[in-house]
Amino acid sequence: MNILKTSTEESLQYIRQSLTSEEMDHLEGTHFDRLIPHLFVTFGASGDLAKKKIYPTLWWLFRDNLLPKPTTFVGYARSKLTIQQLREKCHPYMKVKSDEAEKYEEFWKLNHYVTGTYDKQESFDLLNRELQKYEQGKIAHRLFYLALPPTVFESVTKLLRATCMGNKGWTRIIIEKPFGYDAISSQKLSDHLASLFNEEQIYRIDHYLGKEMVQNLMTLRFGNRVFNPSWNRDNIASVQITFKEPFGTEGRGGYFDEFGIIRDVMQNHLLQILSLVAMEKPASCHPDDIRNEKVKILRCIKELRLEDTVLGQYIGNPDVEDPKAHLGYLDDPTVPKDSNTPTFALAVLKINNERWDGVPFILKCGKALNERKAEVRIQYRDVPGDIFDGKAKRNEMVIRVQPGEALYIKMMTKSPGITFDMEETELDLTYGNRYKGLKLPDAYERLILDVFCGSQMHFVRNDELYEAWRIFTPLLHQIEKEKIQPLPYKYGSRGPKEADDMAKRNNFAYSGSYKWVKP
Ligand code: BG6
Repeated sequence: MNILKTSTEESLQYIRQSLTSEEMDHLEGTHFDRLIPHLFVTFGASGDLAKKKIYPTLWWLFRDNLLPKPTTFVGYARSKLTIQQLREKCHPYMKVKSDEAEKYEEFWKLNHYVTGTYDKQESFDLLNRELQKYEQGKIAHRLFYLALPPTVFESVTKLLRATCMGNKGWTRIIIEKPFGYDAISSQKLSDHLASLFNEEQIYRIDHYLGKEMVQNLMTLRFGNRVFNPSWNRDNIASVQITFKEPFGTEGRGGYFDEFGIIRDVMQNHLLQILSLVAMEKPASCHPDDIRNEKVKILRCIKELRLEDTVLGQYIGNPDVEDPKAHLGYLDDPTVPKDSNTPTFALAVLKINNERWDGVPFILKCGKALNERKAEVRIQYRDVPGDIFDGKAKRNEMVIRVQPGEALYIKMMTKSPGITFDMEETELDLTYGNRYKGLKLPDAYERLILDVFCGSQMHFVRNDELYEAWRIFTPLLHQIEKEKIQPLPYKYGSRGPKEADDMAKRNNFAYSGSYKWVKP
């Protein structure tokens, strides 16, 4: 647990500044996580994100003894709920094993719940009194997870700042997208947050930054001499970053229709991956050095133009058995009948710097497609001066984010035996084969633990967010103003054919002759 140790040291340093000498004496030589109480407050505790992600994550971290002790969990929401009712809501997502019953009871004993409004001083006074009760006048750290709709975000943050900040320990705020709706609204939100908290207190979650293979990108690139020197325009033809889901909006259409696939997935998850694939080597692994490089690469990307995109919207597919697939996006009762919101998008971005000039970065994402998959495909150029009559296929390095984490490099080899033929094969680091029985933590587990530890490496900084909105806002406004119609594609298909054509035009060669085998 190096990370916990480091943060412990950092946090101790921070706390020392605010302590009396008597308190310092008490602290010296004691193990930080045994000593400082932590309070984890979930706003929106009765909602979907809380039951599906936050509570299960807290339970797994607690179960695996990764949290500081003592940590007290406080749920806050408008609905009146008992802990028992909250527990019942969360239970289907907690994945409790039969031999964990005792620990599970222990976890719920540390949980409390406060009912209150999101806009009244009295409610926040009540919450603060409740928190003080658990602190018993001692130093304590406070973490606030804002699992809230944007409508109440401003009032909650203001009241939180005015009423619920920790006295002696630190206070950290975790927030989830949407971080605004476009460049202007996002800037307004950033300014609002900056007027209340320091950037060091704000943890903007993009849960793709908590995924194993996304976190591995830096190690792969900068920890291997073999890759980085060829990672440039002289050798790489195109880079494709893909997110596919095999299901539609399924009742979430109300939320989705306002945002669309570009805001939901491309502007955040895919662009974050792009910046890690394309950035220069940071000066060190310090979170700010890394985020400086990410911002720098985003600044080299021009605003996306409509002609560099293919937009799609799924329609029902009566040819398949699954009745869900018979319904198109517009058949979802929560979606307006004339919606032009894209559920699929392919976009080609170019990075105007010395390393990447001219290399297309193809971002592709969609709902109701033929499979679930997120991956990065670095496609190398054709071998120059061919002596094999065009038989050599391009090298491709595939970083498979999910499902089934893997890294494989497609390459040519001589067919074994008495022959001089060649065939496509791979160098294969499929985690399921290489690390048998390995259980990887969920993205939220890593990220929430990082907040306890004070590491902002895998969180989005305000200037990254600014650049991300700068790139996408003109296109998003154009789609809305000009009512650009997306192309129809069938539920369960690869998306509109035009997307494959655009990828091809952008130096992405698909031969279909190789298939990675999932273990
Ligand atoms: C979320 C999007 O950010 O990511 C969802 O809002 C999407 O629409 C989800 O389904 C995908 O996350 P994961 O971890 O299942 O790939």
